This record gives sequence, structure tokens and C-alpha cells, in this order.
Amino acid sequence: MDILLRSEFQGIPLVHRGKVRDIYDLGKHLLIVATDRISAFDVVLPNGIPHKGRVLNQISAHWFETLKEIVTHHMVTIHLEGFPGLPRSIASSLSGRAMVVQKAKPLPVECIVRGYLSGSAWNEYQEKESICGISLPPGLKESAKLDTPLFTPSTKAEGGIHDENIDFPSMVEKVGKKLAEEVREVSTRLYQQAAALAEKRGILIADTKFEFGLDEGNRLMLIDEALTPDSSRFWSQEGYGPGGPQKSFDKQFVRDYLLSLRWDKKPPAPALPEEVIRKTSEKYVEAYERLTGKALER
Ligand SMILES: Nc1ncnc2c1ncn2[C@@H]1O[C@H](COP(=O)(O)OP(=O)(O)O)[C@@H](O)[C@H]1O
Ligand SMILES: [Mg+2]
Repeated sequence: MDILLRSEFQGIPLVHRGKVRDIYDLGKHLLIVATDRISAFDVVLPNGIPHKGRVLNQISAHWFETLKEIVTHHMVTIHLEGFPGLPRSIASSLSGRAMVVQKAKPLPVECIVRGYLSGSAWNEYQEKESICGISLPPGLKESAKLDTPLFTPSTKAEGGIHDENIDFPSMVEKVGKKLAEEVREVSTRLYQQAAALAEKRGILIADTKFEFGLDEGNRLMLIDEALTPDSSRFWSQEGYGPGGPQKSFDKQFVRDYLLSLRWDKKPPAPALPEEVIRKTSEKYVEAYERLTGKALER
């Protein structure tokens, strides 16, 4: 089984190694490599998850294509063979797990859309009955479906520092009114369309995070990853019930295992048993196959 934990190439410069993805500079383009790394409680685990990188890359590709009428995206191709400036040996070693994208100037905000009350939004709601300055009715339960999806931006914190939720006026200060409004509108439409499609396949997208950038002509472009299990909360529709936290569609086996240990959630993380790795891998593949209706290209 080919599991990629860390990519290492001569001849193309690495610009960023994220928790899961390794990003290389190809001049006008970037090469985004989805490894099989997995993180839980914000810590990268020592094991890889078979197929995870391909699943993530191809779920993003699926959504960029499906949602392209709503907004321009940065994807150029996931078929790397013969891409100018990309050595053939690198291209063939990455089949299915990497994407060439157009380089953009990223906006300094994370664009989160929530259809359900969970995570930091649930915490904020319990404290203030509002999220990012948006008031909500009293008495909502944890994981409740919201009447309309909420746009709840956050700062994009560098290296290790946690993102902070901000209200819309603070976002306006960062990017200007016109762009802030456009991004809010586009993010909400992307989420609504994707969530409706996913729901038909039995997956609830509780919330998701988009990133946008500006291209050379200062036009808005959807960048980064799109509606993957790493950038979103996926729940199984079957078994959904407000009034408490929901099981993660993809990471629940990992979380359950880690919570069964006495680990302080600080690195280094403990190794995962084979059984947990296998079941988690199956969930990622299932997410891909349900969302796209296609068998995973391996
Ligand atoms: N088309 C693009 N142009 C420029 N930067 C991009 C583009 N797509 C994604 N990025 C940036 O690449 C980085 C990806 O990092 P990521 O893998 O998410 O690591 P981390 O775990 O540190 O968040 C983000 O900072 C994102 O803004
Ligand atoms: Mg990121």
C-alpha cells in the first residue's frame, strides 16, 4: 500500500508544509500535494491513512468543478503528466493526490459557513446567544440545524496560533466592504449548493471553511481546498440528532481511540492501531464515493 507521509522533491521549491498538505512553487502555479497525514485535536498523528490524500484531493476537484458556475476557482489540473515545468518522475509519483493551481494573493480571512450549531459557534452561542456578532434565538440545542446558513469569518492565524472568530465589520476592515460582501454572498451560495447535494447522498456538511484569493486582475477566486472532510465537519445523516455533539463521519474512530488513552493532546501523538487506520481509511473512501457517485481513482 503506498502511503505518503511526507513528500520530498529535488528541483521544485517547497513553499509550505501544512498539517496535511505539502505545497511547491512552480512559478505562476503552485503544486498542492495531499499527503496521507491525519491530524486530530490539532496534532498530526504518526501514522498515515491509506487513500486519504487522494480522497481529499479528488473531493476538492469534484467541488471546484461542480460549483464553478458560482465562482472561479484556482484548479488547473489534477492530471500532472506532461505539465510544463513539472518533472515527469514527480508527476507520476503523485498520481491522483496533487493539484496544479493558479497562484493567487490570499485574502487574510477564513470564510466559514455554518448550517448547524457546533464547535466554536456552539461555545459562543452558549455564552452570548450570538455568533460572530449575529444574534440567534434562545433555546437552540447543540448541533441544531440553523434556519439559514451563517457566514462566520475568522482571522487566518500564522503557525500554531488558533484562528479567532470575527464579526462582519472586522472583516470589512481587513478587506473592504465590497469584497467582504461579495465573499459572504459567494461563500453562502457555495455552502448551500454543496450541502444540498451532499444531503441527498446521506452526508450532512455541518460547516465548512473556504479561502479566497485575488488573481492578477484582482478578481475573486476560490483557492485552497473545497468542502473536504479536513476543511469541514461531515456528519452522517443517519443517526443525526440535535441535543449533543455528533459523530464525525471521517475521524470518529481516531478520536474515540485517542480519547480512550490518557494522552494530553500535545505532540507527540500516540500511534494508531491497524484496525483504527483501516476503518478510518474506509470512511474517507466512502465519503468520496458517496459525494461524487464515482469509484476512487487509485
Ligand atoms: N491558489 C493559491 N494561491 C496562493 N496561496 C494558496 C493558494 N491555495 C492555497 N493557498 C495557501 O496555501 C496554504 C495551505 O496551507 P495548509 O496546507 O492549509 O496548511 P496549514 O495546515 O498550515 O493550514 C494556505 O496558507 C493557503 O492560503
Ligand atoms: Mg489551512
